[in-house]
Amino acid sequence: MSVLDADIEEIVVSADQIDDRIAELAKEIDADYDDREPVLVGILKGAAMFMSDLARALERPTRMEFMAVSSYGSGTQSSGVVRILKDLDFDIAGEHVLIVEDIIDSGLTLSWLLKNLQARDPASISIVTLLRKPDAVKVHIDVNYVGFDIPSEFVVGYGLDYAEKYRDLPYIGRLSPAVYGG
Ligand code: PRP
Repeated sequence: MSVLDADIEEIVVSADQIDDRIAELAKEIDADYDDREPVLVGILKGAAMFMSDLARALERPTRMEFMAVSSYGSGTQSSGVVRILKDLDFDIAGEHVLIVEDIIDSGLTLSWLLKNLQARDPASISIVTLLRKPDAVKVHIDVNYVGFDIPSEFVVGYGLDYAEKYRDLPYIGRLSPAVYGG
């Protein structure tokens, strides 16, 4: 139990559901990559938990790299203007890149990231996201692996924050609107 649990209105994806789904995703990825060794590119900070659990669930060896980007916008909405806060310190040319995201909401961050990483000439780029919201479907991005499709509600936990809090909750929960004045 965390003192933060009291701010959660409802659990959307439980810790057990996350564990089980990651095991399934890892199996799929292991099978699809065959003899290729993927470079996992985790998008900080949200993907930190998912990245570390997914990497451990995969049987094949992977390289773990991170990028941090910020999509301008405040509170609970992203704007689509993206800025690199921490770039890769590894040349992905000729590599099989697997972008690891915690959530696709508007899809704007990911469509920008895809263009940016594609320009670096990798052998392939695939995407795995733990969560996807309905709006993401409007953006034409091929998402190879999706953990859960969730409703368009403001969720936190398992890497996702509100004002830098709640990332350490072991589940995904709907934040009580009272917390963010909604
Ligand atoms: C979140 C999330 C994605 C992005 C998705 O990151 O991790 O990168 O927003 O939103 P979009 O599909 O509408 O573009 P955020 O900018 O909140 O940073 P954080 O991971 O450091 O919390």
